[in-house]
Amino acid sequence: MSVLVAFASRYGATRQIAQQIGAVLSVAGHDVRVRPAAAAGDVRDHDAVVLGSSVYRGHWMEQATAFAEQHRATLVDRPVWLFSSGMLADSPPPTDAPTDLDRYAEMLGARDRAAFGGALVVRRLDLLDQVLRLAPSRRRVLRSGDLRDWVDIDHWAHQIAAELSASTLA
Ligand SMILES: Cc1cc2nc3c(=O)[nH]c(=O)nc-3n(C[C@H](O)[C@H](O)[C@H](O)COP(=O)(O)O)c2cc1C
Repeated sequence: MSVLVAFASRYGATRQIAQQIGAVLSVAGHDVRVRPAAAAGDVRDHDAVVLGSSVYRGHWMEQATAFAEQHRATLVDRPVWLFSSGMLADSPPPTDAPTDLDRYAEMLGARDRAAFGGALVVRRLDLLDQVLRLAPSRRRVLRSGDLRDWVDIDHWAHQIAAELSASTLA
């Protein structure tokens, strides 16, 4: 099956998660393209889509939300999986409001969604992000770290691969 793994990533942590998911799907025999959401090409060329975004100040990046909105009609017609990456993935959300991950999963009828830990290197952030990570509106100051659980990510990707293979056989 032809699978698009589209991602929105500012500093590369989410891109690497997307690449790992793509690698698992490739090894499972699928024809995989891993592309930035803003340059993903024609979504209709693919049988299935995985879309992921990092979370900044509680929200998905604009490239990911624009991708979901713009390709909504095509995406609802295909099997779709969504994931987020963020340093607060282990904390409960500050309000009962649905996260963008939940919102877009509902909107697109996603098969599954996953919130993965992210990664952050403070000295690599641009000046604005250096300040924003300290802003009082954040529940905690974000520090450098890598919370990505590659076993968890691989496991999720293997589940996608299994579902895709099952639907190919069906
Ligand atoms: C200014 C700033 C705001 C952030 N806000 C959030 C947030 O609201 N929730 C969260 O889980 N992670 C937050 N993060 C952490 C990033 O989502 C995390 O580092 C992510 O893995 C970055 O991925 P990227 O390099 O692909 O953009 C924030 C990071 C920065 C620098």
